[in-house]
Amino acid sequence: MSSPDDLSFFLHGGDYNPDQWLDRPDILEADLKMMKKAHVNCVSLGIFAWSALEKQDGEYDFGWLGDIVDRLYENGIYTDLATPSGARPAWMAEKYPTVLRTDEQGRRRLFGERHNHCLTSPDYRRKVREMDMKLSERFGSHPGVIMWHIGNEFSGDCFCPLCAAAFRQWLKNKYGTVEDLNRRWWTSFWSQRYSSFDEIDPPSPRGEMSNPSMRLDWRRFSTDQCASFIRNEKEAIRTHCPDKPVTVNMMWSFWDYDYSVLAKEVDLISWDCYPRLRAGNYLTEMAEACMNHDYMRSLKGRPFLLMESSPSKVNWHSVNQLKRPGMQLTTSLLSVFCGSDSVMYFQWRKGRGGSEAFHGAVVGHDGRDDTRVFRDVVLTGEALERISALKKQPMEKPKALIVLDQQSRWASSFVQTGLRDHMDPVEAVRDHYRALFKMGIRADVRDSDADLTDYSLVVLPETFMFRDGFAQRLREYVNGGGKLLVTCFTGIVDGDDLCHLGGTPHGLTDVLGVRDPDLDALYPGEENSMVFPDGRAFPIREICEYPEEVTAGECLAVYGRDFYGGTPAFTENAFGKGLAWYLAGRTDEKGLDAVYARVAAKADLKRSLDEPLPEGVVAVRRGDMALVCNLGGEKRELELSVPRTDLLSCHTSKTFALKSGACLVLDVSAEKEGTGEEEKCTR
Ligand code: GAL
Repeated sequence: MSSPDDLSFFLHGGDYNPDQWLDRPDILEADLKMMKKAHVNCVSLGIFAWSALEKQDGEYDFGWLGDIVDRLYENGIYTDLATPSGARPAWMAEKYPTVLRTDEQGRRRLFGERHNHCLTSPDYRRKVREMDMKLSERFGSHPGVIMWHIGNEFSGDCFCPLCAAAFRQWLKNKYGTVEDLNRRWWTSFWSQRYSSFDEIDPPSPRGEMSNPSMRLDWRRFSTDQCASFIRNEKEAIRTHCPDKPVTVNMMWSFWDYDYSVLAKEVDLISWDCYPRLRAGNYLTEMAEACMNHDYMRSLKGRPFLLMESSPSKVNWHSVNQLKRPGMQLTTSLLSVFCGSDSVMYFQWRKGRGGSEAFHGAVVGHDGRDDTRVFRDVVLTGEALERISALKKQPMEKPKALIVLDQQSRWASSFVQTGLRDHMDPVEAVRDHYRALFKMGIRADVRDSDADLTDYSLVVLPETFMFRDGFAQRLREYVNGGGKLLVTCFTGIVDGDDLCHLGGTPHGLTDVLGVRDPDLDALYPGEENSMVFPDGRAFPIREICEYPEEVTAGECLAVYGRDFYGGTPAFTENAFGKGLAWYLAGRTDEKGLDAVYARVAAKADLKRSLDEPLPEGVVAVRRGDMALVCNLGGEKRELELSVPRTDLLSCHTSKTFALKSGACLVLDVSAEKEGTGEEEKCTR
């Protein structure tokens, strides 16, 4: 029996929907031939196939699926078998209305669309359980099935009476007494005090939306409902399939649920990556994509799977560009070098109808295998085979940690201060990540529960919430020699979303030498600046913190104007054996480059490739290979200090030309340095 971990190669394939083509055996036959040509070795099957698997209540038909799983396996292609819970048939909505979701206005949805089931409905959980047990019985021991794909992109909330009752029970379990809830939700404000759990409704625009502690608990509750929904499916799968890994496909900077909770329910992390590519400058978007890859890798501290990506364009961004030459390979390999053990696509073949008929696919409506997209996919498959040695190499743990804490993110979104619509820290996390990414420094991206001990640098970009114990762990970390960079809007509330008393950033005022920053916000178009003693000045926009007091340390840069002009904007303080920096405002890319020039040097962080890289060119290392890609808009020359081999072209040189969007994979194993040996090139 195989699971993706046992395989010595990377998975390559994607979502396959033969259920849309059951009346076209010729097409299914052609698919097999073309999959082999495209170096496909795995497909995700049955994701939205419920109406083909159970045509009426209890009338199951798994025959077609069995034939396809068999045929794929005979052709060397594994199946990632999905449970169909991401969408359900019309008969089910008709017969069991509670399966449908209710919106926050209390309106039950009509049948239609997908990803819209009630997370609590006993009817839906029962139907899902029955389906999954049958799938598990039929396919659990099939040698072609290597993993399970539960549902699809779980998202959203349901506000039906069943969910409201479950929320009340969840609150009872958490707080025990309503007095405790009143205290921790600060309900003495606006006469919100409850005398019984039964009086509490889910947050709603028709009711309570202004209590941030309540909204935070609702998000935690929804996450827990989703986790128990997944558990229900996993237990059903386990009835006949005790050992194959299960996954759920996650999403880009996802807001609705806390993935660190869902991660515990699955064996493998997987996610769907759809960057908004725009020819000319890919750096910011791909830095954000890689930040998400690293977030996914950090969830379990091990490789993840890229479950979906488009081999050409998507159909749901506001502008859907084709991938420019080179970008299919580059985006795919970036995911692998950040820790993916797969490159999978949405979708193998374009359907003739439905809302995704014009979404990119490996095979288009012409059904041909001599298209530009198909050739790009072949090239990617070949590249994955060429670098497959990486699959079994251990991944080095990064020495930098950037904190992206979902609970803190939620609290930042509910807060009423500063900028009304712009307090989500994800952009700050992306910008700090990008500064390290450009230097070739690998980073973990995870929440504030992370163990800090092994890091040389910890960054807190706008980490609004400090839950119990976090400040103490940060103090110990810096005291013991760690380096800490703290930005504005950090360490302000506790895990209940109540403000910390006695000075902020909570627990760190002496570590940073900064006390009680007050938050100033700038109007669009307004700017302050961060001015260094040598005259370099960088803009500060949107948010400026003005510390009440700077008690210790060195001022590295000051604000350029306004009533706080000349006061500290960037400081450094020695604490114990470590160092702590405080960055008071949101600066731009160049401003962060200046900050990180100092921070990365002091934190002694290793780069993926110790060579000067031209502007827009980045390097990401995995094992003994480094991916070098040009994410800028212009052609660049890479000049190395020693000759190295590009394992994709088998070309050894000290100089390489990289067109915009192009990449190469350098052999950086120490023993090979400078020798130009080529035995890894097997072309
Ligand atoms: C994903 C989804 C797929 C498909 C794809 C299109 O979010 O899981 O089913 O809709 O987007 O980009």
